[in-house]
Parts: sequence; C-alpha cells; structure tokens
Amino acid sequence: MPPATAPGGLPLLGHLPAMIARPLAFLDTLPGHGDPVRVRIGPRELYMVSAPELVRRVLTDRADFDRTGPLYAKIRTFLGNGLATCPHADHQRLRRIVQPAFQRALLPGYAEAMTAEAAALTARWRPGQTVDVTREAFTLTTAVAVRTLFSAGLGAEVAERLRRTLDVLLRGLYLRVVLPAADLLPTPARREYRRALRGWHAQVAAIIADYRANGVDHGDVLSLLLAARDERGRPLSERELADQVATLVLAGAETTSSALAWSLRLVAEHPSVERKLHAEVDAGPAGAPARFDDLGQLPYAARVVNEALRLYPPAWAISRTTTRPLELGGARLPAGAQVVCCLYLLQRRPDLFPDPTRFDPDRALPHDAYLPFGLGATRCPGDRFGTVEATLALATVAGRWRLRPAVAGAVRPVPRLVLSPGPQPMRLAERVSGRAG
Ligand code: HEM
Repeated sequence: MPPATAPGGLPLLGHLPAMIARPLAFLDTLPGHGDPVRVRIGPRELYMVSAPELVRRVLTDRADFDRTGPLYAKIRTFLGNGLATCPHADHQRLRRIVQPAFQRALLPGYAEAMTAEAAALTARWRPGQTVDVTREAFTLTTAVAVRTLFSAGLGAEVAERLRRTLDVLLRGLYLRVVLPAADLLPTPARREYRRALRGWHAQVAAIIADYRANGVDHGDVLSLLLAARDERGRPLSERELADQVATLVLAGAETTSSALAWSLRLVAEHPSVERKLHAEVDAGPAGAPARFDDLGQLPYAARVVNEALRLYPPAWAISRTTTRPLELGGARLPAGAQVVCCLYLLQRRPDLFPDPTRFDPDRALPHDAYLPFGLGATRCPGDRFGTVEATLALATVAGRWRLRPAVAGAVRPVPRLVLSPGPQPMRLAERVSGRAG
C-alpha cells in the first residue's frame, strides 16, 4: 500500500509554507493520517513516522536506513563528514575516536566552564531589564562549546568572533535544508551566509594549526581529538578534525540552548513549578551559581529540563534514507526515500504520555518512548553534557531571577535544524539581592 499523504498540501509548494510558518501546528495535524505519512516539501517528499516501533526500527536498522540523501548532503556543506552526519560506513571509526571526549570523568571539568559562563551571563542582567531568553541561552551554550572544545588556546576576542559566525550559519542552515533555492538567489543574506561559512572554516583551521604547532595538551576536547587514534593507530586527518569540531559545536550548542530556553519559558508559565524550583535552589546553591557538586540537590531542576525535552525535543526530526525498496508500517517505500522520525509527535502520544500537552516535571518518562537523545549506535554521546549544562544554567537563573514574558501570547517556535522557541523577550525581576557572581 502506498503511504497516506498529509492533508492541506498546496500545488507545487506542498506543505512547505506550513512547515516554515507554523511547524508545530502543522505537525499537530498529522496524527490519524497514517504512519508513515507522506509530507511534500516543494518537489521533495518525506515520510514522517512517530509510532515507537517504527522510530525504533528506522534508528536501529542500519542496513535499511542510512544517513545519506540530499538533506545530509546539504548539512555536510557546513559540517563536512562529521560524526553526526556521516554515512553509517564511516560511523563506527569516527565514533570510536570522538567518544573519549565524552567520558564521565571529564564532565566535572566541563561543568566548571558551564558554571562560569552561566554566572557571567546572569551577572550582566539588571532588574527590570527585558532580555531575549532564547538569544541569551544560545550565547551561553556557544560560549561553553567554544570554551570546552578549544578553551585554552583562544583569546576572548577570537572566541566571540567564532560565536557570531556560528549564529549566522545556524540561522542559514535550516532554510537551505528545506529550501535549496535559497542558495540560488544573490541576496545579502546569502552573501552573509557564505562569508560566515568561509570564515568558520578558516578560523577552525587556524586554531587546529596553532594547537599542532605548539603541541601542548590543553586538556580540552580538541587536544583529545588531536591525540586520538583509530583501531589501526591512525590519527584524524586535518579535514576530519575540522569536521568533528564543527559537528560538536553544532550538535551541542543549539540543542542545549533550545532545551534551556524552553525550560525557562515553561517555568515562567507555570507558577507551581516555579515555586518548587525556587524552593529547591534556595535549599541548595541558594543564589550562588550552581556547580557540578550541587547536582545531587537539584533533582527537580533536572526533571524540569527532562520534561521540556519531552514537550519540545530539540532534535525534533531525525532523518534517514532507505537503502532499498521496503515496507514500513504496512506502507511501501522506494529506495532513496527520506524517512523522518518525528520525536515531537512520538513524545506527545496520548497512549504513551497521559494528558500529553500538560507540562508536568513529575510525570514518568517511559524509556522506550522518551527519546530526546535518539537511539542505537548514533544515540547522542553528549546527553549528560547537555542536561548538566541546562540544569546548572536553569538553577543559576532561578536562584536569583524571576522571568516573565514581556509580550502576551503564545510562543511562535522557529524551525531551525533544532526546534527553537524563537525570540522570547522576558522581563527580569530579582528574587534576592543574590550572591551570584
Ligand atoms: C539537550 C541537548 C541535546 C539533545 C536533545 C541532543 C540530541 C541528539 C540526538 C537526538 C542525536 C541522534 C541523531 C541521530 O541519530 O542521527 C544526537 C547525536 C549527537 N549529539 Fe546530541 N544532543 C544534545 C546535546 C549534545 C551535546 C552537548 C553534544 C556535544 C557536546 C552533542 C553531540 C552529539 C553528537 C556528536 C551526535 C552524533 C552521534 C553519532 O552519530 O554517533 N549533543 N544528539
């Protein structure tokens, strides 16, 4: 049987306008129309799946579903053949090389950078000021990514330049993925994007060359990657190194900033959750920036982050391409079909998560249907890094500040590669004349 098609597609454009203008509202219309359900993005088709058994198959059956096809080709223009985007044939070798950077023992060291950056960010805030919380979260997580990747080797100015370049790239990438024609028109935005892409590659190459030249182990991720060897004793090539660096920054920074921005928003909208969170941080770090050792006293803050990751999974859509004609959920798919596992829909299924749209940090999260970090061999190696970072930042903010949306009305999520809440102006009220630095 051919798969059912999602309702509401327009001639030529298909569901593209809906996916750009109101992505979540569009996704919410899909349940009940088939699984997989066919979605048209201009001339391209994709097949969205959200049943747990189908998501499981697509993410773990590496022979039938690979990371190939036009979408990954586009992402590789920025990330190269990085761990998060390489085809399965290259994956095992790269994963083995990159994995040591995520050992548990390194986390307390990374957390020092997280605490320092969260403290610096909130120290800049003033009572009564309105800040865009989404932008602030992104500033924080890119600063942490840059600092943990190649901290010791960089001056503040270079780090800031890298961060700004990254912002332009991340903004431009999603548009290019859903709308390849964005690269055809000679607009100022295209010039800015291309300049940023060249700048990014040049800056990363210069940093790597610098590390190689002075041969010092800086104790950061880049030093680990430079020293790493695969099973045949080979180091990463220059190109591979640059690709892993770009991958780690992209995979780590925007996902975590999205988790944090949604968490802050949801807490601001739920006074009873806010009260519990405030009580917890007051009994723990109590106005001081939260540290790795405080995590044991912050279980509720961690649950807030986990529940935000359920409702708004940053990796809302994980894509694979079929390697042969096959049957999926009773539907026939051709070879080369783009199959998208929609974690957003999976984690809002009423049969798996009762009253699914309710934000409830105390709810149970069944391990076979709660998959914000994916599944199988490509499951996120940065899961602890991301949740620790978001939890420490949330607790640091909550220890001193109460946030309130400055503009009435619902959030309008912005579809980037990551599901982001979009600009969120929030007014800051100081809770205590805190000790936070
Ligand atoms: C809340 C934050 C995060 C979320 C929700 C998240 C989510 C995910 C998901 C769903 C995948 C699987 C993609 C796939 O199967 O194709 C993934 C892979 C990956 N993530 Fe994360 N991630 C987060 C934070 C991080 C951080 C902080 C880092 C690095 C510092 C990171 C690095 C990676 C890498 C390298 C991969 C590719 C793994 C592979 O293919 O072997 N992530 N992430």
